[in-house]
Amino acid sequence: MSPSTIATTGGNRRIRKAVFPVAGLGTRFLPATKTVPKEMLPIIDKPLIQYAVDEAIEAGCDTLVFVTNRYKHAVADYFDKAYELEQKLERAGKLEQLELVRSVLPPGVRAIFVTQTEALGLGHAVLCAKPVIGDEPFAVVLPDDLIWNRGPGALRQMADVAESTGASVIATQDVPRSQTASYGIVATEDFNQRQGRINAIVEKPQPDVAPSTLAVVGRYILSPRIFELLETTTPGAGGEIQLTDAISTLLQEQPVLAYRFQGTRFDCGTHIGLVEATIRYALDHEALSDAARRMMQDALSELGVIEVA
Ligand code: UTP
Repeated sequence: MSPSTIATTGGNRRIRKAVFPVAGLGTRFLPATKTVPKEMLPIIDKPLIQYAVDEAIEAGCDTLVFVTNRYKHAVADYFDKAYELEQKLERAGKLEQLELVRSVLPPGVRAIFVTQTEALGLGHAVLCAKPVIGDEPFAVVLPDDLIWNRGPGALRQMADVAESTGASVIATQDVPRSQTASYGIVATEDFNQRQGRINAIVEKPQPDVAPSTLAVVGRYILSPRIFELLETTTPGAGGEIQLTDAISTLLQEQPVLAYRFQGTRFDCGTHIGLVEATIRYALDHEALSDAARRMMQDALSELGVIEVA
């Protein structure tokens, strides 16, 4: 069945709500994450969560649901109005900075915070958003997967597909076969370079048994049916309630598409991914690119990696 002829899952509705599961422990960034949530780590001057929020707003979302835990006040504080700071910037005539502080959440966009009382897994975190989402398709964005694209953001691309087909859509990218054990891997039918229907999803398969090299990354557009499936999903890998397990059941009932997005993804949940993103954003930054390029050349030549004429 081609994606364009797929039966819809209850109307081709606009995607208005995005869930940001940010209640994980972030153990890979300890000791920093003892006090700073992983999502607040910056790439240049914006925390990861801001890039994720900007992408969701660009995709048309106006309701942002943050699933946090009781230690992550920093995320809620970041999106709250900073009266004192705004007053000080205004008095000091720092209007450009004032605008930066105010534009963290544009007018007309609302932020809702939901608590996940125990870190029982990504699937459980998504389920915590159920009372706010209700009965409509919605997006899930994992902020530590940072996706950079010159054109429309990854979620915008996916929302277009979801809205025109009525299907659930999952972001995927090709990975080297040697890395399949780090990802959810999908098997698809009728894949047309960009998208195809998923008929199986396997969590972290070893390279020799992986059904493909198309890996799931942190963007999903899901039918609300996923909530009922999550309610009956038992803990899987690592004793956590896995979103992948519920999606595996969903795709037996409804069309779920794998979408190979346009853009570059940085895995900012790992040290090297955060470094890579910082370098790439610096090289692309209007005010920083020349200095960043020079600095990198100097560092590489000092280490004897390159020779500078
Ligand atoms: P990760 O697997 O990256 O876990 O979660 P983590 O705790 O954030 O980081 P490490 O592995 O300990 O370093 C993937 C996404 O799911 C969220 C995380 O916040 C992250 O966005 N998550 C995970 C929850 O919100 N709740 C959970 O119980 C687990």
